[in-house]
Amino acid sequence: MNENRSTFTGKLGFVLTAAGSAVGLGNIWRFPYLAAKYGGGIFLLVYLILAVTFGFALMSAEIALGRKTGLSAIGAFRQLDKRFTWVGVLGAIVPFIITPYYSVIGGWVTKYFFAFVSGDAKASAGDAYFTDFIARPVEPILWFCIFIGLTALVVFLGVDKGIEKVSKFMMPVLVVLTLFVAIYSMCMPGAMEGVKYYLTPDFSKFSATTVLAAMGQLFYSMSLAMGIMITYGSYMKKDVNLESAVHQIEIFDTSIAFLAGMMIIPSVFAFSGGNEEALGKGPSLMFITLPKVFDSMAGGTIIGAVFFLLVLFAALTSSISLMETLVSILQDKLHWDRKVTTGAVLIFCILLGVPSSLGFGVWSGFSVANMSILDMFDFISNSVMMPVVAFMTCLVIGWIVGTKTITDEIELTGPFKSKKLFNVVIKYIAPVCIVLILVSSVLDVLGIAKI
Ligand code: TRP
Repeated sequence: MNENRSTFTGKLGFVLTAAGSAVGLGNIWRFPYLAAKYGGGIFLLVYLILAVTFGFALMSAEIALGRKTGLSAIGAFRQLDKRFTWVGVLGAIVPFIITPYYSVIGGWVTKYFFAFVSGDAKASAGDAYFTDFIARPVEPILWFCIFIGLTALVVFLGVDKGIEKVSKFMMPVLVVLTLFVAIYSMCMPGAMEGVKYYLTPDFSKFSATTVLAAMGQLFYSMSLAMGIMITYGSYMKKDVNLESAVHQIEIFDTSIAFLAGMMIIPSVFAFSGGNEEALGKGPSLMFITLPKVFDSMAGGTIIGAVFFLLVLFAALTSSISLMETLVSILQDKLHWDRKVTTGAVLIFCILLGVPSSLGFGVWSGFSVANMSILDMFDFISNSVMMPVVAFMTCLVIGWIVGTKTITDEIELTGPFKSKKLFNVVIKYIAPVCIVLILVSSVLDVLGIAKI
């Protein structure tokens, strides 16, 4: 059944595709606002520690699981142990929650790109521009529909080689531009305070919620705990060194997130005088501070336009692979025609995305535990479902089928250098930490107890 499964040409092809899916709004939009909100340096430190332990172990496990079975999440878990098929199913549900709200943000990026192209750049630097925009009932929904419509169009026509070619060109440009903006914003008066905030951990700001937020971000940014890496692994050739591929994907993804933080956090300090409230802005951080940075730059309108175009591109490549995932999950199950399935997925995403968008305006009165509708979807997927999937993955691999199933697969191309670390993380550290953190932070968010 799997003989016809297409494979990546080699390691580079694999790493670039996996990194292309990993790098998206998670790195440029989500990471900086979380870092700003959860204490700067302490968040960064926790994130980095988690990336080289949890992130490494989980990504290796998922890719190896996919390559070993040649199947996507649901099938792969079924093959490991029939009783745990549901873990694959739960993981497969996650992208159904993420895609709609991801595309709402994608719509905001589209709007900003057009604002910069159409000479509205100056206005977009105004204090209330963003909050006014997202509070409108209709306009953000129109941009959301444009973004998701574009995504669906590509998925509808079939994702072809074109996207990969463009990514290879656009991704390096994005890195250079991010570096440039980061250096520029570090040089603004008052920005050094922000650099300090971002780089020096303040241990008094440490809490279970910090760890949970960092962990959720890690899963989100590296597309873990939702079956994606299992699917990619199933396309990976047996002679590719899995361990070093995982390292490369992680380094790439983390560097871009780090740079995005460097670009945004110091400039928040420069423009707000380091006031805490400005740091806690959440999802809107990128849209409020960056236009101000561009406004203060010579030639900022052009740089801003190019910047938002690249972010838009990174967002589109990610939303395309997200939607592609939804379509293939449904097709595997229901055997519908590809075009019909894409249409159904599009309608589903619009139905779920519209409330997320309205949650910042006419439906802002509706909130659970102080979260807007979009934040709520984000919390349920990233902070609840993905940790559960990650926990179960560790449990099944570490205790039910044995880590040897996975390490043997990784050792096909030579010794597995971090085998000890992998075993210890998967069997003990990860499951214990995930449970502790998940429970304490859910209680915290629901306001039941504060740890
Ligand atoms: N990792 C992507 C980002 O950082 C978001 C994402 C989550 C994703 N799951 C995915 C992208 C699946 C592609 C496929 O923005």
